[in-house]
Amino acid sequence: MSSAIVVGATGILGREIVKEMGKEPAKWKTVHALSRSQKDSYPSNVVHHHINLLDSAADMAKSLKDVGADYVFFAAYFQQESEEKEWEVNGDMLANFLGALEISGAAGKIKRVVLVTGAKQYGVHLGQVKNPMIETDEWLRDSTWPPNFYYRQQDILKLFCEKHNNASWVVTYPNDVIGFAKGNYMNLASSIGIYAAVSKELGQDLVWPGSETFYTRFDSFTSSDLHARFCLWAASEPKAANQAFNVVNGDVQSWQDLWPRVARRLGMKVKPDQFAGKSDLASTTPLDFPPPITLVAKEIGLEGKIGESETAQRINLARWSQQDAVKQAWNRLAEREGLEKDAFEKATWAFLDFILGRNFDLVISMSKARDMGWTGYQDIWKSFSDAFGELEAANILPKVHWVGEPSGCTCLP
Ligand SMILES: NC(=O)c1ccc[n+]([C@@H]2O[C@H](COP(=O)([O-])OP(=O)(O)OC[C@H]3O[C@@H](n4cnc5c(N)ncnc54)[C@H](OP(=O)(O)O)[C@@H]3O)[C@@H](O)[C@H]2O)c1
Repeated sequence: MSSAIVVGATGILGREIVKEMGKEPAKWKTVHALSRSQKDSYPSNVVHHHINLLDSAADMAKSLKDVGADYVFFAAYFQQESEEKEWEVNGDMLANFLGALEISGAAGKIKRVVLVTGAKQYGVHLGQVKNPMIETDEWLRDSTWPPNFYYRQQDILKLFCEKHNNASWVVTYPNDVIGFAKGNYMNLASSIGIYAAVSKELGQDLVWPGSETFYTRFDSFTSSDLHARFCLWAASEPKAANQAFNVVNGDVQSWQDLWPRVARRLGMKVKPDQFAGKSDLASTTPLDFPPPITLVAKEIGLEGKIGESETAQRINLARWSQQDAVKQAWNRLAEREGLEKDAFEKATWAFLDFILGRNFDLVISMSKARDMGWTGYQDIWKSFSDAFGELEAANILPKVHWVGEPSGCTCLP
């Protein structure tokens, strides 16, 4: 029987790691779930502890005095307004936490630490990347690029494991997470679902708000439950020691396929001429840094051929969400259907503008993990549909009578 610590236990990724171990008390004797707030009730093998990762290592060690484990999963994240601040705050949170484990003595018993980071590893937030993205791709370390807190966190973790040779490390790189966490509206499914629900309330068909280019490009997604299963596999797989892994569902998707399914799932249809004319709410923003693919352009024979990356929105959702008619429609809908009213205010519209507005493909390879024996896979559309179901049950989206896709159907009705 094993024990574990999950840091960031209420987050979209951490919550699922706790949930997964909570289902197996015979295997996971004690799971210490750590975060500032407690949002869920837990099975008997899970114990929640309040912790503030902004505290010093010494202060944290006092709250962690009775907390020790074989495995640590670090999935905490505190969003900041600049990359410099992300580097400072999120790097310090990990360093101080590991420092606290050293002070409390827990560090000496740890077998493996799994650190959750993401595909920003490859600079997906900076522009066009080399596809597919592979774990051995060069890091964007030099001064051409902004600081990347994932690099600092990985360096901190590697040093910790060199110092404590009882512990090995694993790092995961998920991308565009599909999932659900109570009180967390920064996820794709909730913002997309709320946008669709308000459009429906306004009597409109579903219109793609992102870039026309990205509508037919490819993206890779990570289901938070699949990611949790991956973390547990990687924690115990001997070959995974001291390795970083991409973690995506295993298929690749495109909004040309997903968008009509979203419409059908939420009881709507896609506006047949959704790209006709120019919308008043259209916007285009060039990205500030050279696209990451420029790092290898010479080597792959694309020197001088890489254009600027940008994000473009047919409907800029940050501006759309400020319109009186839109706010009134949400209030009406929330009142009538008994929905969580603040979900609309808290939905991260600018984040969705970015994710749907890109003009480049994001294809992430799972070959490394598969080669080591990982067989996990989850259909991306099913992940979205399940997340909509959870959001309906949590009163964030209105309940839609959904009979499911006809069996074996991969096509539109
Ligand atoms: N979500 C995505 O789409 C996505 C995609 C790719 C990669 N990632 C990466 O995955 C990692 C986890 O992100 P996430 O999206 O799961 O984060 P999240 O949903 O925002 O959750 C963050 C967690 O950190 C905890 N936390 C934040 N500040 C804390 C503090 N001062 N002290 C203690 N706990 C604190 C939060 O709990 P309390 O607020 O209760 O303290 C929560 O449990 C990050 O590195 C993120 O960049 C996320």
